[in-house]
Amino acid sequence: MAHATVRTEAISVNTYRPNAPFKGKALRVERLTPDESPNDVRHVVMDLADGDLQYLEGQSIGIIPPGLDAKGKPHKLRLYSIASTRTGDEGGERSVALCVKRVVYIHPETKEEVRGVASNFLCDLKPDDEVLITGPVGKNFLLPEDPTANLVLIATGTGIAPFRAFLKHIFEERPGGWQGQVWVFFGVQTSTDVLYEDLYKQYEHLPNFRISLAVSREQKNKKGEKMYVQNRIAEHVDELWSWLQQGNTYTYICGLRGMETGIDAAYAEVAQQAGQEWSKVQYDLKQAGFWHVETY
Ligand code: FAD
Ligand code: A2P
Repeated sequence: MAHATVRTEAISVNTYRPNAPFKGKALRVERLTPDESPNDVRHVVMDLADGDLQYLEGQSIGIIPPGLDAKGKPHKLRLYSIASTRTGDEGGERSVALCVKRVVYIHPETKEEVRGVASNFLCDLKPDDEVLITGPVGKNFLLPEDPTANLVLIATGTGIAPFRAFLKHIFEERPGGWQGQVWVFFGVQTSTDVLYEDLYKQYEHLPNFRISLAVSREQKNKKGEKMYVQNRIAEHVDELWSWLQQGNTYTYICGLRGMETGIDAAYAEVAQQAGQEWSKVQYDLKQAGFWHVETY
């Protein structure tokens, strides 16, 4: 198998470490899901002025929430995929954007409401609040430099964050644009909760852009169960397999870890029909830099 093209761009990693984080400031927080939605997902933009934090689309940053944990120790950092491009979020300031889902759940034993520390801190930020930032991290979940490469971008929920950055970079910022085919598979709960929907509408007219949604609480898969993103993949896996055969196709998976088994099962079936073993094909794709996974 051919290897992915060699990267020439410089990649910064760990410019800011947990013992000396960057002191950023909140710029703006925008709720992405409608007020009536039970999901509270927010686009959180932070100022990076006066620092050295440079990043590429696909990298993540760490956030250290203020305060102490239950053991009286400073909170550990939480990682978040960057949702903005290297030039910052819209508006031109040196900034970084995240797509954060507020974690709130009922504790199974105590039956009390628990609010996730970092996600609630980020969702509730007000302009000028201080935010301790580490990173950037990630050297692999990056766009290929070759604009003729095909991209298969598979996300659930906030896993769309790095793909927002990818799409904005290749279609709006990259000199020369993008010639390869770009296919987004996106799993969401309801059609009102399609994060960054306006963005996909903007690209709809492009001949090389396509998006397939899996709306779990409104659509059913062929077994009559919830439609998950892996079920959408299964529907199109013959075409996706043919893309893989062409070479120069890069697949990226981001979001809930649970989707991976189903994606593998879909590809395994078509690989088997072609007389190949998916685990081996996938291993080779990973080794050659064509298959990238960031799940949590
Ligand atoms: P915590 O205070 O850490 O609590 C979370 C814990 O609560 C979980 O570990 C789990 O044990 C428990 N819990 C959560 N829900 C339930 C439930 N329903 N029932 C029972 N227990 C539960 N998150 C994003 O929102 N956007 C991103 O772009 C993003 N990118 C990530 C990238 C990477 C590489 C990784 C590793 C994670 C990413 N995350 C992202 C997840 C993020 O790091 C945090 O884990 C998440 O925001 C929760 O952190 P918290 O501090 O709010 O919750
Ligand atoms: P659902 O919540 O209906 O089960 P979230 O908003 O919690 O990040 O989820 C994003 C989407 O991923 C939702 O449609 C959710 O469906 C779906 N989802 C949940 N578990 C899985 C899984 N194991 N595989 C694929 N998608 C999943």
